Amino acid sequence: RLRCAKVLQLTLAVIKPDAVAQPLLLEALHRKILENNFIIVRRKDLIWKRSDSERFYAEHKGRFFYQRLVEFMSSGPMRAYILAKEDAVSHWRELMGPTKVYRARYTSPKTIRAQYGLTDTRNTTHGSDSSESAEREIAFFFPEFSVQHWLEMEEPHFR
Ligand code: PPS
Repeated sequence: RLRCAKVLQLTLAVIKPDAVAQPLLLEALHRKILENNFIIVRRKDLIWKRSDSERFYAEHKGRFFYQRLVEFMSSGPMRAYILAKEDAVSHWRELMGPTKVYRARYTSPKTIRAQYGLTDTRNTTHGSDSSESAEREIAFFFPEFSVQHWLEMEEPHFR
């Protein structure tokens, strides 16, 4: 155990409606998750009601992009994953690249958003920005899932 100090971290990854609407892209993103050695802990396809979207993005209420973001995220099916890996939060965010597609294309052309993002709203994917937001967001998407239970009971089996 001392030699093997790695601890798996959980993150929430979401494939947004723009990407789910393109079957080949959805498949490519799923493959990217596997190729990057994330463990897929849970996976769920879902459609948000507008009220779910408003609740999830409540912290952005009042910003100029809030309405279009809320509208878009409840416009069609999306896919959510609970992913586990060492430093899962930052690894998934590195793969996604910056929020703004045009910045992503300029600074990190190999990232998901740079390659497949359409606009700052239709930017293919979401990823938690910290371990704390991952817990909150996992609870939002997977209310039946207990992070604590997984870390205590299941995480050791993957080491
Ligand atoms: S911020 O400014 O750091 O709070 O923004 P960020 O966390 O990068 O993005 C919050 C979500 O809003 C979506 N969005 C936009 N962000 C910035 N500018 C514009 N124009 C915009 N339009 C939409 C952005 O995609 C983020 O969504 P999530 O689902 O969190 O990735």
